[in-house]
Amino acid sequence: MDNIAAVILAAGKGTRMKSGLVKVLHPAAGRPMIAWPVDAARGAGAAPVVLVVGHQAEEVRSHFRDAADIRFALQEEQLGTGHAVARTREALAGFSGTVLLLCGDTPLLRPETLTTLIRFHRSHHAAVTVLTAVPDDPHGYGRVLRDEAGRVVRIVEQKDATPAEQRIGEINSGIYCMEAEFLFANIDAIGSDNAQNEFYLTDLVAIAGQKGVTCLAMSAADADEIMGVNDRVQLAEAARILRRRINRDLMLSGVTLIDPEQTYIDHGVSIGPDTAIHPNCHIGRGTVIGAACTIEAGAHIERCRIGNDCHIKAGSVLEGAELHDSVAVGPMAHLRPGTLLHNHVKIGNFVETKKAVMGEGSKASHLTYLGDAEIGRDVNIGCGTITCNYDGVNKHRTVIGDEVFIGSDVQLVAPVTVGRNSLVAAGTTVTRDVPPDSLAIARAPQVNKEGWRLRKKQ
Ligand code: UD1
Ligand code: CA
Repeated sequence: MDNIAAVILAAGKGTRMKSGLVKVLHPAAGRPMIAWPVDAARGAGAAPVVLVVGHQAEEVRSHFRDAADIRFALQEEQLGTGHAVARTREALAGFSGTVLLLCGDTPLLRPETLTTLIRFHRSHHAAVTVLTAVPDDPHGYGRVLRDEAGRVVRIVEQKDATPAEQRIGEINSGIYCMEAEFLFANIDAIGSDNAQNEFYLTDLVAIAGQKGVTCLAMSAADADEIMGVNDRVQLAEAARILRRRINRDLMLSGVTLIDPEQTYIDHGVSIGPDTAIHPNCHIGRGTVIGAACTIEAGAHIERCRIGNDCHIKAGSVLEGAELHDSVAVGPMAHLRPGTLLHNHVKIGNFVETKKAVMGEGSKASHLTYLGDAEIGRDVNIGCGTITCNYDGVNKHRTVIGDEVFIGSDVQLVAPVTVGRNSLVAAGTTVTRDVPPDSLAIARAPQVNKEGWRLRKKQ
């Protein structure tokens, strides 16, 4: 559909969050809450999308720095939702069509619902259409007042409602379709004579009635979708519903989730078919996982690219790492940014890597630190190996050629190179380059003092 613009109200502080961070930037399923209604508006074909910002305006803006379809309107003082919408007059100058009005604190709203709302609004040639719902608990929401014929006449806020009005179950979702012409011709007519001395956007419903233009209500099929997040209890509830949707889509696309209620996958993560995710895994933003992988319990993965047939064992933490196919990691390994593991690499328990490249078939099976290292193929890194990459001021590189065997408990004092097919004996501290095909050994010769313990005891 064309000729649709959206306005999303996001100027409020979110007092009930009791937070130093503005409400709409609190994350839900891996992205700031406001990103969800922005995407819903885009999905319904809205362009431009105007965000009304106020509290922490710069922080909100910076989240949409690269978005060409987003415009901003500044509401310096938060004098109410009507006042907020009036601030968009400039950003929407020249636009004539349908304006979707949304709130920044409704992350569960789906684009399909907005599309249905716009179709309903347009097919009835309405000037205003309010999306309503009948939730289990209407407390706190504005109530929808209808006349005997069922026509919407007014919306009354909880704080202004009489006891009889408070018993009405149909609530205002805070989501509307309005014709731009009606909106901007009447927005300045809203007054602030109410319990909160605010300019209520909802007054446009009564104004539409006075002007004799069509004002309708459409009921949302799913009351969950319009849930507004005002506090952290509601934030957790909304995040749970978002996760359920993400997990459901993944399962239907062929991913096994052993316990979807205890699997935490952020928006935008991609996972291939026949991959199995065990409980209590956290898979964050920007991660791509291939097919037929196993991710065991308690793995924490973010900003990673993982190929096919990989096995991430329990309790491993992977951040900014790239794994090709058939790579095994963990249990309890830590792959840090800049790690690149080629096919069939094996990283075992208590191994940490950072800016480390490992060639095909190489292994570091136990208790090792590999930082700023370039390691060839079919290399064996013995237990307890450490790249000493930091001299207190600068970081230095360790280069290890193909088919090298590093024995246990070796320290490689960088910058240092071990040539291909060499062997470094267990316990060696390597401080000079090792030529190819060599043995490097650096340990104090062993002395056995026979009978020493017996003499001590006497
Ligand atoms: C509003 C509606 C209420 C509806 C409910 C649905 C009004 C008067 N009331 O109430 O009928 O049932 O939403 O969730 O519209 N905002 C601004 N500037 C302001 C005030 C608010 O940008 O000056 C923004 C807030 O940041 C928020 C949104 O508007 O994103 C809604 O404001 P909020 O104070 O949460 O309104 P409710 O009291 O929930
Ligand atoms: Ca609200």
